[in-house]
Amino acid sequence: MATRTTIERIAEHVGTEVELQGWLYNKRSSGKLHFLEVRDGSGVAQCVVFKGDVSPELFEAAGKLTQETSLRLTGNVREHGKRKGEYEVGVTTLTPLAATVGEYPISPKDHGTDFLMDNRHLWLRSKRQHAILRVRAEIIAAVRDYFDSHDFTLVDAPIFTPNACEGTSNLFETDYHGEPAYLTQSGQLYMEAAAAAVGKAYCFGPTFRAEKSKTRRHLAEFWMVEPEVAFMDLQGDMDLAEDFLVSIVARVLERRRPELITLERDLAPLERVQKPFPRISYADAIRTLEEAGTGAKYGDDFGGDEETVISAKFDRPVIVSRYPMDLKAFYFKRDPDAPLLALNMDVLAPEGYGEIIGGGQREDDLATLEAAIDHHKLPREAFGWYLDLRRYGSFPHAGFGLGIERTVAWICGLPHVRETIPFPRMLNRMSP
Ligand code: 4AD
Ligand code: MG
Repeated sequence: MATRTTIERIAEHVGTEVELQGWLYNKRSSGKLHFLEVRDGSGVAQCVVFKGDVSPELFEAAGKLTQETSLRLTGNVREHGKRKGEYEVGVTTLTPLAATVGEYPISPKDHGTDFLMDNRHLWLRSKRQHAILRVRAEIIAAVRDYFDSHDFTLVDAPIFTPNACEGTSNLFETDYHGEPAYLTQSGQLYMEAAAAAVGKAYCFGPTFRAEKSKTRRHLAEFWMVEPEVAFMDLQGDMDLAEDFLVSIVARVLERRRPELITLERDLAPLERVQKPFPRISYADAIRTLEEAGTGAKYGDDFGGDEETVISAKFDRPVIVSRYPMDLKAFYFKRDPDAPLLALNMDVLAPEGYGEIIGGGQREDDLATLEAAIDHHKLPREAFGWYLDLRRYGSFPHAGFGLGIERTVAWICGLPHVRETIPFPRMLNRMSP
């Protein structure tokens, strides 16, 4: 009796007969042999049909299989004829389950990005996309494990919200039983409430931004993890972000090396993601940009190009802190030593992948926060509950948000975020 297993585990079955279920990925034939590349979701294996081992009908049927036909087969696991350390299957029986209706649209030839994005539901089956899905899942598991094992409590934030967190210009508005509601831009404000309940809180979920931006780093829907810690200041926030990122990268290197190799990721820059990260001020960053002749001047915000110039000076992530308050959201605490500056920080990934973390210390003084809400022309009614956090036992606190897709792009070495999420939502795309 053949043992049912998966391709990922066939090395455990060398010398025995196994049963696999999957799809035909690729095929080539030469005389008495058909080499079927079969994928089953866990991996891809070469399955060899030798004319001398099977019935003439089976041999002929195997030769006619089309790409992505689903099938079940049994065969003997042995070391690969040419590639040491790899295993192949000598097929004994093979049953096609469902043939393809017409030709599979994605052939091994090069297709344009639009075509592949239109066929994203099928494109996910390719080796490259498979590797990205696995790395993404590993990053998410590492994120959760990090916080769960550092005394944080997961507190879920809502998706429908009555108030803006990151400015009013990029809100998706929806109708909530006759009332306007927005899709959340960030769970932060809710995590501030949660931090007062559990001390160290984090949320992890989808967030939405409606800016009409077409850059390689913008999605309309992206996943963000947001820790928030009571009695932590900006310094502690930077320490947390650093320790967290080092641990995420180490975990992916440890567990998803084969996938990174499939993606042809240069591992050396990832191996260098070690403490301490360089820490510079916004003012230092502006000096770097001036020296590089970028035309940026004090008071400007950074786009992708500026972030690339800043991060090029360092061989690991760099933390940039204390931006002008004018560039930042209403909730940041001002630097007591320089009230025009925010106690904020961004972490820029190396190799030009740009900002992956944004966060900082929050304003904890009621009157100052009320003034900031007014200054940003936000409706004070919508923030009544948030101001309560400053009315009833206000406390210093800080946190940050890490964007999962930009992190996946960086760790996988992908130029665009569109491949980092299974079904991307972008300015011009909401399908499939
Ligand atoms: O810098 P952001 O806007 O910060 C916040 O939302 C804070 N409220 C987080 C907090 O302190 N709890 O976003 C945080 C991160 C960015 O650094 C980036 O990685 C990601 O979220 N991000 C996006 N990713 C993809 N597409 C977009 N449109 C993104 N906007 C932000
Ligand atoms: Mg930001």
